Amino acid sequence: MTRIYTLVNQKGGVGKTTTAINLGAYLARFGQRVLIVDLDPQANASSSLGVDKNAVEGSIYDALINEMPVSTLTLHNERLNLSILPSSPALAGAEVELVNELARETRLKNALDEVRGKYDYILIDCPPSLGLLTVNGLVAARDGVIIPVQCEYLALEGLGQLTETIERVRVALYPDLKVRGVVLTMFDSRTNLGNDVIKEVNRHFPKQAFHSIVPRNIRLAEAPSYGLPVAAYAPSSPGAYAYEMLARELLRGDGVKVSVAKS
Ligand SMILES: Nc1ncnc2c1ncn2[C@@H]1O[C@H](COP(=O)(O)OP(=O)(O)OP(=O)(O)O)[C@@H](O)[C@H]1O
Ligand SMILES: [Mg+2]
Repeated sequence: MTRIYTLVNQKGGVGKTTTAINLGAYLARFGQRVLIVDLDPQANASSSLGVDKNAVEGSIYDALINEMPVSTLTLHNERLNLSILPSSPALAGAEVELVNELARETRLKNALDEVRGKYDYILIDCPPSLGLLTVNGLVAARDGVIIPVQCEYLALEGLGQLTETIERVRVALYPDLKVRGVVLTMFDSRTNLGNDVIKEVNRHFPKQAFHSIVPRNIRLAEAPSYGLPVAAYAPSSPGAYAYEMLARELLRGDGVKVSVAKS
């Protein structure tokens, strides 16, 4: 059974990509077949896994606009046991190009149907906007959205707008769309702010915040420049530990039995 989750928050720099990559990497270590879908023209998820967006032969753009099969566009990293559907600079134009297309909101969902049986988890990394690309990400989120929230002042600003968008997609396009969980990121135990944000998030999304909280950890910021998830770059760092715990929590919640992580 394939589970599809979409990482979404229109606020920039909150940890969507970091969560997609590192959660995905740990799910893979726990024996899951994982595909990361880079739905952001910035292509940070692609570059975080060492894929050069300017050098890819095909990208998610070709799946969305040219209806090329996703299976012909994905790249597989043997060492990490992780697949990626990369992004490319052309994707920046897709938002506009999609406007006049038929079934413009369901393109990604339909494209992913082809590869669904091949993976246990598909994680979709959205751009920081609520445009048509993100709407495609929401419609494709069969098993729900995961919302990273940065533990900082004004963290919840914009979440109302995100909730409204999710509601609109639910009403118009995908009635079963749900929030799978909220991930608190960049927690800094030295300030009181983080604890305030945790309280606020628990108030806004009762019972939906994951217990695993991601601390601010420099190793998480360094790993992408080596094209590696933190699990491979600094496995004993606090950031790695947090994402391992998050992966375990997600698997447990999904009723998936965890095998021993491969090193
Ligand atoms: N827990 C963390 N500790 C330290 N740095 C982090 C952490 N999480 C993310 N970062 C860094 O913060 C920056 C923003 O993170 P990331 O790219 O994951 O956010 P994003 O929500 O995907 O951003 P965008 O909206 O631009 O796509 C990156 O430089 C990343 O390496
Ligand atoms: Mg990102």
